[in-house]
Amino acid sequence: MIDNNSGLIIPEHVGIIMDGNGRWAKKRALPRSVGHKFGAQNFRKITRYISKTGVKILTLYAFSTENWKRPLEEVSALMSLFKQYLVDSLTDFREDDIKVVFIGDKNGFDKNLRKLIDESEEVAKDRKGMLLNIAMNYGSRDEILRSIKAIAEDVRNNRLNPENITLNDFESHLYTAGLPDPDLIIRTGGEFRLSNFLLYQSAYSEFYSTETLWPDFNEKEFDKAIIEFNQRNRRFGGV
Ligand code: IPE
Ligand code: IPE
Ligand code: MG
Repeated sequence: MIDNNSGLIIPEHVGIIMDGNGRWAKKRALPRSVGHKFGAQNFRKITRYISKTGVKILTLYAFSTENWKRPLEEVSALMSLFKQYLVDSLTDFREDDIKVVFIGDKNGFDKNLRKLIDESEEVAKDRKGMLLNIAMNYGSRDEILRSIKAIAEDVRNNRLNPENITLNDFESHLYTAGLPDPDLIIRTGGEFRLSNFLLYQSAYSEFYSTETLWPDFNEKEFDKAIIEFNQRNRRFGGV
């Protein structure tokens, strides 16, 4: 297990694109929804592990603004899993003092799920452990547009002068307002793309892609990503 005593730099903020559930199921001739079920189980296990490594903020991509395009059957299966796991994982996460926050457009979900989301945030609000951002109905382009609209509103109401708009003003309307940018973004399932995840915030994030499909991504795989992260030379445009 990797932690603050391993002599490694533990990234403060890690993002994970949890991809490959469908392919995991297909390899086993199972319906895609079964892949999502195993993926959801893995989400609980890995989150608890990561919270013990010293990572301060974990942002997990669970459902994108584009994932509504999928067949209704798959979307419904995902929504049921979200409901079930929100309730279940609260118990685990309480033990680990993990603070859960949802990022994305909550209005896209049905009333029951919205209620569960609000309740999960409420019970966890005073926790002091790792911050877990669950990105659900999240899309970076949508997030950026929302910020632009909020800024435009401030300009219209004479609260802001266009010449004086700063990056800080813009960032203050993102879901990640006040948080440091992700240091490391891990993608399982072998693709090398962000798929609309933290486009603005990842300007200087280190990207790590593994062929391992999400339900198979384990503690050892996470440690491997941290070791590789330690070999990167982050210059942020400097020398
Ligand atoms: C990721 O797995 C989960 C979600 C996007 C909700 P996929 O369902 O995208 O799995 P693949 O990429 O088809 O294997
Ligand atoms: C990204 O995976 C979204 C999540 C993991 C939640 P997708 O499977 O939706 O991405 P694409 O379609 O391969 O780009
Ligand atoms: Mg996918």
